[in-house]
Parts: sequence; C-alpha cells; structure tokens
Amino acid sequence: MVQEIHKVGVVGLGTMGAGIVEVVARAGFAVTGVEVDDTALKRGRAHLERSLAKAVDKGKLSEEERAGILERVTFSTSREDLANADFAIEAVPERINIKRDVFVDLDRICPPGAILATNTSSLAVTEIAALTNRPGKVVGLHFFNPAPVMRLIEVVTTVVTEPGVAEVATEMAKRLGKTPVAVGDRAGFVANALLVPYLNHAVLLYERGVASREEIDAAIVEAAKLPMGPLALLDLVGLDVCLAVMDVLWEEFRTPRYAAAPLLRRMVAAGLLGRKTGRGFYVHS
Ligand code: CAA
Repeated sequence: MVQEIHKVGVVGLGTMGAGIVEVVARAGFAVTGVEVDDTALKRGRAHLERSLAKAVDKGKLSEEERAGILERVTFSTSREDLANADFAIEAVPERINIKRDVFVDLDRICPPGAILATNTSSLAVTEIAALTNRPGKVVGLHFFNPAPVMRLIEVVTTVVTEPGVAEVATEMAKRLGKTPVAVGDRAGFVANALLVPYLNHAVLLYERGVASREEIDAAIVEAAKLPMGPLALLDLVGLDVCLAVMDVLWEEFRTPRYAAAPLLRRMVAAGLLGRKTGRGFYVHS
C-alpha cells in the first residue's frame, strides 16, 4: 500500500514544516513544499539549506547526498501544485481558520485517494477531518521538534479513520525513519499531555522565584539526564505552541494541573515566543 506513495506535499515551511520536508526528502520521496508567499518560501528554503549544510560540514552527509535531497524538493507558493500528491502533511500555524483554509484546498486539489495528515499539536484531528469530504483519510502525524532529529511520530486516528489509512500512515512514519506510536484524538495526545504540563510547571517555579532559569534547567538536566531543561525546551518548541497545548488540555479536562502559568500567557502576549522570535526565557542570536 505505502509503496504507492511517490509524491508528498508539505504545506507550511516554518520550523516544523521545513524540518518535515527535510525528513521526507532524506527518505527518498519527491516532496513539494508550499508556503503562502515568496518571503515565507525563501525562509523555509533557507532553513532546509542551512540544516543540510550543517550535516555536510559535520561529515554526516556527502555533497552528492545533499544535491540528491535538494533535487527531490520542489518549492511553490501554489497549493495547486499538490494535484498529484499521494500524501500531504499540513504544518501551518495552530489556528483553526488557517487549517480550514488549507484542508478545504487540499481536499479539492489532491487526488481522491490521497491521505491528508495534520501535524497539529493542539487542535482536534477529528475537527480538521470533518472539514473535508474525506474524513476517513485524514490523520494526525505529529512530529517533534527538531523534526529531523526526534524519532517519535504520534499517529493520531479518529473515530472515522479508515483502518487501511492508519496502516499506511504508520508505514509512512517508518519509511521516514521514525518510530510511530498509535494514539487517540485527545487533547495533547500522549507525549504533550505529559510533557507540556511539566514545562508549564517549570514556568510556575520560575515566576515564584524558586530558582533562576539556569538553575531550573540545570537541575532537571542533571536529575533526569535530559538533553535540555524545560525553559530552554520551551524556547525551542515555541511558547505559543506550548500555551496552545495547555489551553486545549484545560478546555478538555478542566483540572488545575492544566492551568497555564500566568507568566507563560504574558510572554506569549508580548511576542516572546522563544527561538523563532529571538527571545523567550533566553535571548537567542
Ligand atoms: N535540524 C536538524 N538537525 C538538528 C537540529 C535541527 N534543527 N538541531 C540539532 N540537530 C542535530 C545536530 O546536527 C546534531 O547532529 P549529529 O549528532 O548528527 O551531529 C544533533 O542534532 C545534536 O545537536 P547539537 O550537537 O547541535 O546539540 P545538542 O546535542 O544540544 O542537541 C537537541 C540539540 C537535538 C535539540 C537536543 O537538545 C534535544 O534533543 N532536545 C530535546 C528536544 C525535545 O525534547 N523535543 C521535543 C519537544 S516537544 C514537541 O516538539 C511537540 C510539540 O508538539 C510541542
């Protein structure tokens, strides 16, 4: 079944989308990356090129491999270019209006048999599926940041997902070199339902003055042997993304455990979103 997937589309080339394009092209698929305008497209392309250049510099990728990967990627500002995509992955901002616009288009443009996947971390996959005329062919394919590095993909199915579709999506995740984990369509799925409240708790400790940001991060890195502390990870993932997950957990379960830290909300309001805006809990060059 999955052998029939030759052409992949990725809509949205932000931090996640550009990383997903890299993963898909590295796995040998032809992939078309779509953005809304030339500026966003240029930014996505630069993200991919930087990542590949870094891999070449480190000796992890040969010049030929880099050229092969870039050859498999097409960049476009028109979703119409996904008319022959067998599998589309959406990675646009976490707002239902934007997702609606994308999924209505993908449903119209992509072949009827194509699977449409969303990388959403905070919206209901069921709700997104219901925007299309093929809800049985819509799944969540939830990547983790940085997408080229993190092995996990949560494969999110809904009450209306066709069984064969879940199978293809799982196979696809494996062909991308990832570890698929099947999860249901509940707020936070599994990983974020555990991880994001922990990140939020770190913000609460920080705003209560229990320790400095560096001390909070250092403590848990050493205590739990993690690659980075929670405040540094918030900056990597994006404070807005984490707040959106907290809010959806709150909406769904209404327990104090899922109440967002006031400081997190204020920082998002101030545009201090982390690495992508140059400043979050830390300043990034
Ligand atoms: N793109 C491609 N490769 C990258 C990369 C990126 N953005 N960032 C790092 N890498 C690669 C590096 O090239 C390096 O590769 P090699 O080992 O082959 O040389 C490797 O990853 C390690 O990177 P560094 O040596 O630069 O730095 P590091 O050892 O400090 O690792 C890290 C950086 C991979 C980000 C690591 O700190 C880490 O794993 N952090 C935790 C990340 C995490 O928990 N992510 C999940 C967030 S939750 C989420 O995403 C879900 C959601 O919906 C909110």
